[in-house]
Amino acid sequence: MNIDKEAILEKGFLDIEIDARLDLFAEIERLKKEKNAVILAHYYQEPDIQDVADYIGDSLGLAQQASKTDADIIVFAGVHFMAETAKILNPTRKVLLPDLKAGCSLADSAPAPLFRAFKEKYPDHLVVSYINCSAEIKALSDIICTSGNAEKIIESIPANQPIIFAPDKNLGAYLNKKTGRKMVLWNGACMVHEIFSLEKITKLKIRHPKAKLIAHPECEEAVLAVADYIGSTTQLLKYSQTDSCQEYIVATETGILHQMQQNSPNKTFIPAPPNNSCACNDCPHMKLNTLEKLYICMQYETPELIMDETLRLQAKKSMDRMMDISRKAGLIG
Ligand code: 13P
Ligand code: SF4
Repeated sequence: MNIDKEAILEKGFLDIEIDARLDLFAEIERLKKEKNAVILAHYYQEPDIQDVADYIGDSLGLAQQASKTDADIIVFAGVHFMAETAKILNPTRKVLLPDLKAGCSLADSAPAPLFRAFKEKYPDHLVVSYINCSAEIKALSDIICTSGNAEKIIESIPANQPIIFAPDKNLGAYLNKKTGRKMVLWNGACMVHEIFSLEKITKLKIRHPKAKLIAHPECEEAVLAVADYIGSTTQLLKYSQTDSCQEYIVATETGILHQMQQNSPNKTFIPAPPNNSCACNDCPHMKLNTLEKLYICMQYETPELIMDETLRLQAKKSMDRMMDISRKAGLIG
């Protein structure tokens, strides 16, 4: 088939009709074996994609899996910065993303030229950036962190060393509180985690007095202040499995509820209500990926994540520091 690369770049994916009678689950399994491909999926992907994935995880777990896989093809069912991370850590693999336009509002909130100018105002500061940022921002950073290792990363830095934290101001404020640091914060945020309504959560808690509120640290301070537990998606999932409570209000993207419900079928999980008239705390970027697009990208091996090698090597330094500290702290194997 003649593949129009320009059209793919414009649309974000190869837009072709597929036979509606195809069993996509079986086809995807066949393609995995035929092409020695591994599917890495984030918890915010739609349930069908989670069900065909070889590994589902948070950003730290996904980065580790991407770095150590010996598959020829990494199919990244997540967003653009995650596929970039896989390429940075494992450049000899072909990295595919079902929809190249699956971006991230948080990563978009830190354009590299503006961030470079901001950084110049603080020449003595070390730059710690949350993994939800572009490769250009990673290249401008000293250490990367994820929600699963952020505290350990900050604690590994001498107390007298001033720090800039980017791009998530909510995670940064949470870390300042937890570690007692006074990091300078870049003013970015995630559109999904900023949408929760404290007023509606409070009312929901009154109706469900036994339910615990579990929240992702990308949520605003007011929501985190009333949370019973705060953690990365993997940490929230583990907590919901091991904790004795039977009911949870979950303040993060709704995709995670699929694994929570599967792992604890007798517990009740209620998505935290957003501050709008619909119940849409789905990430519109994550949800651009579909099972059809996943199948097409595996079948035709497009779109592929291509990265400039100079940029990759610059971005790799801060990623390597994160992986080293995480290994030493026992957070990854
Ligand atoms: P984690 O899964 O690493 O907690 O990150 C959440 C998120 O917003 C990913 O985009
Ligand atoms: Fe980005 Fe937020 Fe979507 Fe995660 S949930 S990909 S941080 S916009």
